[in-house]
Amino acid sequence: MTLEPSSPRKIVLDCDPGHDDAVAMLLAHGSPAIDLVAVTTVAGNQTLEKVTRNALSVAEVAGIHVPIAAGCDRPLVRPRIVAPDIHGDSGMDGPVLPAPRRAVYPRHAVDLIIETVLAAEPGEITLVPVGPLTNIATAARKEPRIVPRVREVVMMGGAFHGGNRTPTAEFNVLADPEAAHVVLNEAWPVTMVGLDLTHQAVATPDVRVRIAGLGTAPSRFVGELLDFYGGTYRATQDFPHPPVHDPCAVAYVADPDVMTTRRAPVDVELTGTLTTGMTVVDLRGDEPAECRTQVAVTLDHDRFWTQVVDALRRIGDPG
Ligand code: BDR
Ligand code: CA
Repeated sequence: MTLEPSSPRKIVLDCDPGHDDAVAMLLAHGSPAIDLVAVTTVAGNQTLEKVTRNALSVAEVAGIHVPIAAGCDRPLVRPRIVAPDIHGDSGMDGPVLPAPRRAVYPRHAVDLIIETVLAAEPGEITLVPVGPLTNIATAARKEPRIVPRVREVVMMGGAFHGGNRTPTAEFNVLADPEAAHVVLNEAWPVTMVGLDLTHQAVATPDVRVRIAGLGTAPSRFVGELLDFYGGTYRATQDFPHPPVHDPCAVAYVADPDVMTTRRAPVDVELTGTLTTGMTVVDLRGDEPAECRTQVAVTLDHDRFWTQVVDALRRIGDPG
């Protein structure tokens, strides 16, 4: 099927809200270049129950009406790890989280992903996982027919310069390395938007002013999220301003020119004694002409935040 250049890209956002996941949801909802088809949740920043409730709260704030389905409550193989040091006890501490008025979708996220991809035209759906890759890997294993039908997987996770949870591993990949291994080794195109890129997506004071200037309830919500998240990043990782990882993957789908990428083989370390969960990216020599995987390298900071601010402006005050 040929997609018109101007058609919004249909995505399933698979997430674990999570402060930056919330911003990813808002960008996906407000961007004119994205058609958000469904939101699926996975245990990651907090338990499945907490991140699913957080996703419903974000939907409440922003007037998001697409299905929100809960998925896997633990990694494929390893014990679950969560990140209260960054995201608090609720997984999205800071703002008052509105009580959701709607229910979670009554099917498992993995089934919603499969049904969405099979119901769409081949090449129509892009999967955007911004949490551990458990749901995406399980969907690929449960229904392999989705793999050639997915346009591409654009994941926030991994790194080629060093990790955040360990010296070599990024949280989403470390949380479920076997799932990351499945996703990176399936026959679909994968763009890895890792820490090398997302550490450039810092919410600087001028960005905060632009967001606050919108004066809407969703923009205030983002401000309160960034207050808390900025505090934990200052306290635990020595960042003066916090890197807002997850919307970078959505921004790439909406506007690939927002960042540079480089084709390179990527795999995950599963058996290292010091390096489990490390994404090993082969950057030696020239870019291979044929390669299913690519990594994000350099972000256009202003172009990225303009996308986020414009999306929030478009969302307005849903009331
Ligand atoms: C990733 O880990 C989570 O804490 C964030 O939501 C992001 O997806 C960054 O390593
Ligand atoms: Ca996340």
